[in-house]
Amino acid sequence: MLKSNKLGNSNFLSSLDISSEEVFHILELAKKLKNNDINIEFKNKVLGLIFDKSSTRTRVSFQVAMSRLGGTTIDLNPTTSQIVRGEPIKDTARVLSRYCDVIAIRTYNHSDLEEYSRWSAKPVINALTDLEHPCQALADFLTIKEEFIDFKNVVLTFIGDGNNVANSLILCGALLGVEVRIACPKGYEPNSSVIKKAFEIYKDKSLLKITNDPNKAVVGANVLYTDVWSSMGEENFKENKDKDFDGFTIDRNLVNKANQDAIILHCLPAYRSKEITDDVIDSSKSRIFDQAENRMHAQQALLACLLS
Ligand code: CP
Ligand code: NVA
Repeated sequence: MLKSNKLGNSNFLSSLDISSEEVFHILELAKKLKNNDINIEFKNKVLGLIFDKSSTRTRVSFQVAMSRLGGTTIDLNPTTSQIVRGEPIKDTARVLSRYCDVIAIRTYNHSDLEEYSRWSAKPVINALTDLEHPCQALADFLTIKEEFIDFKNVVLTFIGDGNNVANSLILCGALLGVEVRIACPKGYEPNSSVIKKAFEIYKDKSLLKITNDPNKAVVGANVLYTDVWSSMGEENFKENKDKDFDGFTIDRNLVNKANQDAIILHCLPAYRSKEITDDVIDSSKSRIFDQAENRMHAQQALLACLLS
């Protein structure tokens, strides 16, 4: 554990904005908060939320996490604020950071999130961009840690699109030294600069594998993870992607090829019967709803650190 909750970086735009030691610290703090072993208060602190894309889990888990810290949240709906009129990010960011103590933003271009953080005087959190979903990865590894206690022999296989969720799993997995395998159709590999950065972090380079064969990728895996094939903003590609991802569904057959102790994760929302079958989501191996709950605990810990 770190001596204090203060992080080296004031923003959380990427999984790589925190060190390996800091990820372990946040996970440990999240566990303590979940078990009511610790009480942290940030009375009267205000979290501003900007969601340019839809959200259920991220929005609500941030709101509840902030209220558990004794603070409040303002959910700024872009369609009823001046954001929809096209007010420059540099103006919105400077104004909001005069009112709020921390701001969480979900948007399309990662560069827009970076622009917010450049102009905000207060910490900015990535609540999902097209490139990364680092808050999701914190909850995912918290869920994995609850199951396997440490990460030493964990093999995490992500089957599906090399998207924002996959990118953050790779980066956070690299910080934690977890073996991460990504199985995706050709042409849907994760972001190349994310892969490059991850390889720079891994001491053992063999721990990151990108493959096009889901059947091989699940052998020896104890975490099977998937996400939608078409992310928000990709609605026009849906028909083609559904064809390209044929054979990449997590079904009972694929689960049976993994380790006996394998658990199933999905960040949700899911397209049941596309990337994952009903019976797998609802099976005894599924930790998907614990994972959703853990969004709240992980973000409460993250907020506590960023507000310290
Ligand atoms: N997993 C996740 O981020 O869900 P929401 O889109 O509902 O926030
Ligand atoms: N990859 C998905 C994740 C949703 C939580 C998306 O970006 O739409």
